[in-house]
Amino acid sequence: MTRPRILVTRKLPSDVEARACAHFDASLNEDDTLPTRETIIADAKGKDGLLVTVTDRIDAELIAALPASVKIISTFSVGYDHIDVAAATARGIAVTNTPDVLTDATAEIALLLMLGAARNATSSIATLREGRWKNWAPTGMLGTELSGKRLGILGLGRIGRATASRARAFGMEIHYHSRQRLSPELEEGARYHADIASLFSVSDILSIHCASTPQTRGLINRETIAHLPEGAIIVNTARGDIVDDDALIEALASGRLGAAGLDVFNNEPNFHPGYLNLSNAFLLPHLGSATLETRNAMGFRALENLEAFFRGDTPRDLVST
Ligand code: DGY
Repeated sequence: MTRPRILVTRKLPSDVEARACAHFDASLNEDDTLPTRETIIADAKGKDGLLVTVTDRIDAELIAALPASVKIISTFSVGYDHIDVAAATARGIAVTNTPDVLTDATAEIALLLMLGAARNATSSIATLREGRWKNWAPTGMLGTELSGKRLGILGLGRIGRATASRARAFGMEIHYHSRQRLSPELEEGARYHADIASLFSVSDILSIHCASTPQTRGLINRETIAHLPEGAIIVNTARGDIVDDDALIEALASGRLGAAGLDVFNNEPNFHPGYLNLSNAFLLPHLGSATLETRNAMGFRALENLEAFFRGDTPRDLVST
């Protein structure tokens, strides 16, 4: 039997590529050249499926230009805001993602961002590395601690809950807003807020864990930032477009907000340069899932979805609009 032909748009961990080649007639991206829309369309010729990542913008125009042979797009990510799922569905193309496997790694990065933002990591590291650290000072480089603080979680899904459980170990009090209130087993004592204004007003630290959707894009803006306590900290491991950069930069520069910890940005990797001038912005280059264990697990999960689909089964992680 001929093996399904798949296009893998980015270089993946070697064990994942080995499995891709064992199960599929796989076209790999050995030197990891960032594919353009044109190269994806050209390379998809004769393929039955695509294995894409968050750097591939699979919009309606690209989907319309795909050859009819392509029946599935499996993304190596939990987020699928880079894919126009409605357009794919309309063309009869299935879309799958990789939930669960990156939950712990992303929650760990959320805690790193909280700590880095709360304890002045950006300016302290710069002081040390640039030779400006003259002595230990009782009043020098003071931050704030997580212990005893109220953590507001925007979106208590898998990653939000994993972040909450780690934050509890730091002695934080958990509050959240989600589209729907969760069961008491999932809440684990977290206090539900029916609206954002109420959640924000009690969030010493606000951690963003919702998906990027038309409803959440730009949700962190001048109006909503105004609900946060003076000196609050914002942490984002979800998607950059949930934040209005100008509003956040203005609030950080004025001291209205104490700090921010950001792992994701609008228009990555060309993020707003204003963040670089802020010593109270602790910035990471989209590292949420960046461990070998997690990237392997994401790759295997993306391949399992393709394998199930071509066996004629419903893939475990089929997404819909
Ligand atoms: C995802 O999977 O959506 C992440 O952003 C990649 O780390």
